[in-house]
Amino acid sequence: MDKHNFVTIADLSREKILYMIRLSEEFLRHPNREILKGKVVATLFYEPSTRTRLSFETAANRLGARVIGFSDAKASSVSKGETLKDTILMVSNYADVIVMRHYIEGAAQYAGEIAPVPIINAGDGAHQHPSQCMLDLFTIHQTQSSLENLTISLVGDLKYGRTVHSLLMAMRHFNPSFHFVAPEELSMPAEYKLYCKEHGIKYEEHLDLNDEVISTSDIIYMTRVQKERFSDLMEYERVKNIYILKSDMLVNAKSNMRILHPLPRVNEIDYDVDDNPHAYYIQQARNGLYAREAIICDVLGITLDEIINDDTIID
Ligand code: CP
Repeated sequence: MDKHNFVTIADLSREKILYMIRLSEEFLRHPNREILKGKVVATLFYEPSTRTRLSFETAANRLGARVIGFSDAKASSVSKGETLKDTILMVSNYADVIVMRHYIEGAAQYAGEIAPVPIINAGDGAHQHPSQCMLDLFTIHQTQSSLENLTISLVGDLKYGRTVHSLLMAMRHFNPSFHFVAPEELSMPAEYKLYCKEHGIKYEEHLDLNDEVISTSDIIYMTRVQKERFSDLMEYERVKNIYILKSDMLVNAKSNMRILHPLPRVNEIDYDVDDNPHAYYIQQARNGLYAREAIICDVLGITLDEIINDDTIID
């Protein structure tokens, strides 16, 4: 089998996305198995994480694999000057698959080109976050029963938010309409607007998260303003509280509209929304476990048929 990386969502066909959703559904039904017994999964996190790292590690553990890695590169030989190339080649000696988050855009692509084992991109700078995208697609499909013809509002930091970049690319197969809601400083980058034009993706840009946007949305995808990507902290201070979604703003929302957020949130979703039936971001994060079980198995060449016929299920 050729080595199979999971580095960018742009590589995934419509059929592959729907296949990965089916795979994730199987893991939702039976998350605990021993199908990866004897495998070692490495998690190399050069940037902070709670959900992505812990859900990948939980996914590996719940499938019977063992986990090695670091959550802080400063505690590794990176602090002595070891290059990304050497770190990836070393860890490839020990692990069957490497999950990595790095602050440099394209780092996972590079690792995928040099590593003898599969590389899973857990976020590279402001570029891509494909495993988040898979769990977002799984969640949208779960809540809307389809990915087709949806109106999705992307709200907040559309400049640095890698999750929104991945989501709009993946949705190109499903005839979406987007509202891009952002201040001018954080608007969707020109390259992604060009991507929309090239792929016939409909979008409108808005400065306000207003009732027209909310009432026409099937999904409102809130994002955090990414403080760590700003070179000018004064600019961050100007925009950090630009959108705060509150429960009373949702009175005219469609009954099946769901609010997603890749998390962590700072204050862009008021805590009063948590008990609103439209809120779905906690369940969304839980789906990260199932989507990441699917991704690890897929890069290791384990098929949907093998998952369906798996006799290692524990629960
Ligand atoms: N959504 C997400 O990437 O969260 P973490 O940064 O906590 O992994």
